[in-house]
Amino acid sequence: MVNQSVKKTVFIRTFGCQMNMRDSEIIREMLQEAGYAMAVSLEEADAVLFNTCSVRQHAEDRVIGNIRALAARKKINSDFKIGVLGCMAKRHGEMLFKEYPQVDMVVGPSDIYAVPELFGRVLSGEEKVIAVKNIKRPHKKVGNTYWDGGFSAFVNIMYGCNNFCSYCIVPYVRGREVSRPKNDIVNEIKELVDKGAREITLLGQNVNSYGKGLTNKIKFPELLEEVNKIEGVSRIRFTTSHPKDADKSLFRAIKDLDKVCESLHLPLQSGSNKILDLMNRKYTYEEYLDKIDLFRNMVPEAGLSTDIVVGFPSEKEKDHNLTRKAMQEIRYNSAFIFKYSPRAPALSSCLVDDVSEEVKKERNNELLEIQKKIAHKKNKALIGTLQEVLIEKVSRMSDKEMVGRARNNVSCVVEGDESLIGKLVQGEVVGASAYTLKVGLLK
Ligand code: 5AD
Ligand code: SF4
Repeated sequence: MVNQSVKKTVFIRTFGCQMNMRDSEIIREMLQEAGYAMAVSLEEADAVLFNTCSVRQHAEDRVIGNIRALAARKKINSDFKIGVLGCMAKRHGEMLFKEYPQVDMVVGPSDIYAVPELFGRVLSGEEKVIAVKNIKRPHKKVGNTYWDGGFSAFVNIMYGCNNFCSYCIVPYVRGREVSRPKNDIVNEIKELVDKGAREITLLGQNVNSYGKGLTNKIKFPELLEEVNKIEGVSRIRFTTSHPKDADKSLFRAIKDLDKVCESLHLPLQSGSNKILDLMNRKYTYEEYLDKIDLFRNMVPEAGLSTDIVVGFPSEKEKDHNLTRKAMQEIRYNSAFIFKYSPRAPALSSCLVDDVSEEVKKERNNELLEIQKKIAHKKNKALIGTLQEVLIEKVSRMSDKEMVGRARNNVSCVVEGDESLIGKLVQGEVVGASAYTLKVGLLK
């Protein structure tokens, strides 16, 4: 416990994916339990912890900008402490101290449970505290019930990744894949529900390989069945699925289990088999398409989303055209398009990054434009349908409008007041843009 008379305030800024958001929640509550207070802004904090992302150079540059901006403050006040947590901490380790002398602490994703202890050492004057273990992340019970509030909660079902897509830094910074035992997951969800969570998103880099290595044999669809039984859970979502492991048993679970939402994020990455092979994705476009056809036949109302990387090394106009055609053929509800960014030591960083920034930008914009039109048309086709919406928060546009998501994961705007927050409402789609549905409540 920290002496209350010197209670330090900490500000946590999170970059990157939902795993990082979940990790930040856990770190925040561990620090509060240890007696620290959370600052509402960086300006008033005694310390800042950056929970960082390495997935693209742009993500790292944003963090570096933040660290650089604090050099002057650190010079004036050496009691102000700066910690770098998460994927960049693991990727760069000691180098962060050398490049940015203002940094006091570096902690990788496998060591987050040690943050309160390590941070305590920083505050007591120890210099350059570092923990970047090269091991699997432990299944710590601590953190199980940690939650930031709201109605949607993230739950890790596994850590790390074994896929080694050639562009991806994740296996290097988050280690090998390891699944959490089913009972830990179920108990955590029960506790979250007791605290008020209604929508549970199960998190893993490749949820379809959940269960490998556990003593009690279980596969992901069976885990979904168990979570579906938990009283108080209204909705279940999950991310991310790897196309090579997504199969009929997953699609059946989405179709049959009432709480599992009808939506699937299935990253294609490229429509060109040459590029998919270089990416080490382990499927062809044709195999991917067969899975999508099967899924859509089984769950026709489902929403479908994807990730695409443009400008991978040696991607020619011909390859890009295949990705464009794939998007036009599949017609996703939404798509995240990324410009390729080499990430040493991921394998593709050995290939020449030969697509110019300008061409990457052009390809990116072109696909975004195509996707926007497709999404708009798909949303318009939903006008007149009934949708169930979980209301999450007040719209940024107007306090008379609430926002939430339909089961297919499309964003919805619903007229109403704050009393709707956390409720599942039924409504008719009365309008549509490329990114949202306007839903009128059923009287
Ligand atoms: N460059 C660009 N995009 C990347 N992604 C992962 N690594 C890279 C990289 N090196 C994208 C992939 C992945 C998403 C989370 O980020 O599309 O699915
Ligand atoms: Fe998440 Fe990957 Fe970024 Fe790490 S590198 S924060 S795992 S997206």
